[in-house]
Amino acid sequence: MFTVNAPVEKTIELDNHIYLLKIYCPEIASKVNPGEFLNIRVSKSMYPLLRRPFSVCDVEGEYIFIMFNVFGEGTKILSRKHKGDLIDIIGPLGHGFNLEGDYDTALIVGGGLGAAPFPLVTKKIGSKKNIKTFIGGRTHKDVITYGLKNISVSTDDGSMGTKGTVVALLNKNIESIKSEKVKMFACGPTAMLKSIKTFCEENKLECEVSTECAMACGFGICQGCPIESAEHSEKYLLVCKDGPVFNVKDVVI
Ligand SMILES: Cc1cc2nc3c(=O)[nH]c(=O)nc-3n(C[C@H](O)[C@H](O)[C@H](O)COP(=O)(O)OP(=O)(O)OC[C@H]3O[C@@H](n4cnc5c(N)ncnc54)[C@H](O)[C@@H]3O)c2cc1C
Ligand code: FES
Repeated sequence: MFTVNAPVEKTIELDNHIYLLKIYCPEIASKVNPGEFLNIRVSKSMYPLLRRPFSVCDVEGEYIFIMFNVFGEGTKILSRKHKGDLIDIIGPLGHGFNLEGDYDTALIVGGGLGAAPFPLVTKKIGSKKNIKTFIGGRTHKDVITYGLKNISVSTDDGSMGTKGTVVALLNKNIESIKSEKVKMFACGPTAMLKSIKTFCEENKLECEVSTECAMACGFGICQGCPIESAEHSEKYLLVCKDGPVFNVKDVVI
């Protein structure tokens, strides 16, 4: 884990108002695993006080990328960064995806900004396994395909791809999914991850999910990011330290 002041190289605004921040950070670029995250202090002032967590979206040489939409003050400030601005980052943090294993096809499933960790997952898998990607959004504006490959899309309103949820789309493709040895990697809103858990239980699929919650310290000190363990009721795991990626069987979503 490093604490760095890393310079912005560029801020890229994609078509659908999603931002990519390219940051020069050789320390983290050389160490980060897919699914790990950064805890970023967006401003030198006291507000916003807490750091904001972001998945490492991609790595190119000595550069790292994060992807975000403007939700509140933190992401608004980040979207206005310019080349040369320094960003205070702690990372890489948490446990990422385990891309190893006895499977032939990686089934990547992202909902909205849940697509953020998957360009790096896609890059790291490379040609070692087949990749099938399922991306869902409420409308076409939420569909993010940057850095992904072999993509099927669903939208709740039918404005792009198949109408319905991404889990409904997985169900439509269940025969082809089951005909291969797959491992699923999923990230998205809690409601989506809940349905993914049920889908994987019903179809006996291996799956890792990247979970989200509000965070403070980002590395296990404040106890502010609990998620219930599926193994022992009343036992809590920490999203920042034990996750954010968990085997879907290990957590209550
Ligand atoms: C491990 C981890 C990885 C993450 N990776 C990413 C990432 O790669 N890209 C990314 O954009 N976000 C990611 N997030 C979420 C990100 O931390 C929040 O989007 C960010 O903190 C928002 O800060 P803000 O100050 O702009 O908004 P805040 O002021 O904190 O929130 C403003 C409003 O927006 C809502 N809001 C905040 N975040 C979200 C969200 N993600 N979805 C829907 N509503 C939201 C809040 O509930 C609030 O109502 C991640 C979170 C975790 C825990
Ligand atoms: S954010 Fe502090 S323990 Fe997880």
